[in-house]
Amino acid sequence: RLEHPLLGYSVPQQALRETLVKHLAERYGWQIDAQDLVFLPGVEPGVNMALHALVSPASAVLVQTPNYSPLLHAPANWKLPRIDLPFHANSQGEYPTDIAALERALPDHGALLLSNPHNPLGIRHTPIASLSPEIAARSVTLMSASKAWNIAGLKTAFAVVQNAELRQRFNAGRLGLVDSVNALGLEATEVAYREGGPWLAQVVTYLQDNRDYLAEAINTRFPGITMHLPQSTYLAWLDCSGLGLKNPQQFFLEHAKVALSDGLEFGDDCGQFVRLNFGCPRPMLKEGLARMERSLRDA
Ligand SMILES: Cc1ncc(COP(=O)(O)O)c(C=O)c1O
Repeated sequence: RLEHPLLGYSVPQQALRETLVKHLAERYGWQIDAQDLVFLPGVEPGVNMALHALVSPASAVLVQTPNYSPLLHAPANWKLPRIDLPFHANSQGEYPTDIAALERALPDHGALLLSNPHNPLGIRHTPIASLSPEIAARSVTLMSASKAWNIAGLKTAFAVVQNAELRQRFNAGRLGLVDSVNALGLEATEVAYREGGPWLAQVVTYLQDNRDYLAEAINTRFPGITMHLPQSTYLAWLDCSGLGLKNPQQFFLEHAKVALSDGLEFGDDCGQFVRLNFGCPRPMLKEGLARMERSLRDA
């Protein structure tokens, strides 16, 4: 693309729209029209646009916790009350959605935020709008190639809004603050979904091996830490409560020089958790774990 000397404003082309329509049909059996797509400079602006444009004042927003911090904080941006739906690990160490709690909360809500794959728990869902036309008519689905193909810095995402009236209101929520998408991001998104499948399949296999290596290491070498196997993502949610540390994230940063994400970013009661990103070469993962192990031994 950079061999083309013009970098003026770019418009999403029909070929990109058709690539995405085909991807959603093949991947999820989800039939959408090219016009249902709205292009945005990120998923996060889309979440905020949807809450602002589509949720009535004072209606509550249901959010599963723990969760990615900009999603936790998005309702407060628009002075909307948040209702938390906590995940609890079951005896197999899985995090099932608490359907009974969801059913209790649903009658009073203005919106339900679902994250797929869930960050930080790595739970894989089906896009809810693909399940039925009735659900599609009430849904805004935000997606991007950012994380799978590591192009988040190109700031390109898209929304699928199949209800034309909802789409018009959602788009009006740009308010001159959410701009159009950059030329390279549009190009990269199209190429990723059109040609990047085989590359992604290889990466996923590598990440699965990293995940299994990590889980084995945690189970055999870190008696005070527990982890469940994420179904998706390259993130591991580590429960460090058995270590007896005041602040596990700070401990590993200071004593092992390993920077994990602090569980508190994802929920007020998650101070004993850290999030480890294993989307890295295996030698780096091994080195990080060896340092963490040494730091605990020397403590
Ligand atoms: C669940 C979730 N939503 C949204 C985002 C942000 O996406 P974007 O950079 O497209 O705004 C992230 C980034 O980590 C995320 O994990």
